[in-house]
Amino acid sequence: MPYGGLMGDILTKVVRVDTINPDQEAIKEAAELILEGKLVAFPTETVYGLGADATNAIAVKRIFEAKLRPADNPVIVHIASFEQLYEVASEIEEKIVELAKVFWPGPFTIIVKKSSQIPNEVSAGLPMVAVRMPAHPVAIALIKTSRRPIAAPSANLSGRPSPTKAEHVLEDLGGRIDMILDAGETLFGVESTIIDLTKRPPRLLRPGPLVVEDIERVAGKIEVSDISRAEIKYDGIAEAPGTKYRHYAPKAPMTLVEGPQESRFKTALSLVNERLKKGVRVGVLTTSENYERYPKGAVVLAAGSSNEPYSIAHNLFSVLREFDRIGVEEIIAEGVEMKGIGFTIMNRLRKAAGHNIVRAE
Ligand code: TXA
Ligand code: MG
Repeated sequence: MPYGGLMGDILTKVVRVDTINPDQEAIKEAAELILEGKLVAFPTETVYGLGADATNAIAVKRIFEAKLRPADNPVIVHIASFEQLYEVASEIEEKIVELAKVFWPGPFTIIVKKSSQIPNEVSAGLPMVAVRMPAHPVAIALIKTSRRPIAAPSANLSGRPSPTKAEHVLEDLGGRIDMILDAGETLFGVESTIIDLTKRPPRLLRPGPLVVEDIERVAGKIEVSDISRAEIKYDGIAEAPGTKYRHYAPKAPMTLVEGPQESRFKTALSLVNERLKKGVRVGVLTTSENYERYPKGAVVLAAGSSNEPYSIAHNLFSVLREFDRIGVEEIIAEGVEMKGIGFTIMNRLRKAAGHNIVRAE
């Protein structure tokens, strides 16, 4: 296994499972590990999660150790039924259940009052807990078979791009966790939308695959927080505690170019040419439409097509890891249109760039 570290070497067992028809034996083995307080990475429709029994404080602590995650960054509790919502949360209003019924199972995480069954380690000491019902048969089977709510952050080392393939999990956490259920690439490729329902109006804390426009059609006005725009770096106490840390970062420093479409491209191109002149091994993150327009000397990767922005979300983290693998010294990334899923993509890009943004006019 490629990684040792603080926890010492654990044998990380990787088992392939079918998405639609997950192998019962594999799920049973994973569920038993969960009940023993061990760590199992599993696929969801967004990204892979690193799961532990959400009712077991010691198991949850192991998640933080394995990921090198700061203890003040709370994790999401994954459930497979509405009965479990009542176990993990308290003071659930009917309105909340109605809203959850529209978007669950799916990439929709709600912040609600925590119940006493959920240890403080999960919520980082907050009285609130983040809950979601994932839309992935393997995730649901694991939660149902273990009969436990499962606490799971994304299954990457803290600060790294979230894993959209089992290989990414193994790369970051091999030797540090007990098992990986490998069901191939995840569907959306970016993490769930997080809405704080303890606020009036509800607040968007992290944009995700489910876009605000669609939630508003059901829930009424949603307040889009500054944090979810990721325009500025958060140093103080953030509402969504995780948002203050550097995130999704490839190893090479990254510059994000924003602005109107064609000037975005032109500015990115001139930045790339500048780097090439200096002999810098430069990576370019772009779309399939602009792929051929960059000089051959650069390492050009297209995440997807601007006509299908969900394809960009799907490949984004994988492409960021690809730059690491190739070993570029710097990355120039073209921004995307800030609407719908584009807003979510820009949130991740701004963080990956460490808020190093160039605005093209
Ligand atoms: O799609 C996803 O949400 C994936 C999959 C595995 O479900 N999970 C995920 O977890 O992205 P993670 O830990 O990488 O991000 C969870 C974020 C935290 O960083 C924090 O910002 C927010 O959820 N969060 C969790 N509990 C919270 C709470 N009680 N109050 C406010 N924000 C919370
Ligand atoms: Mg994460």
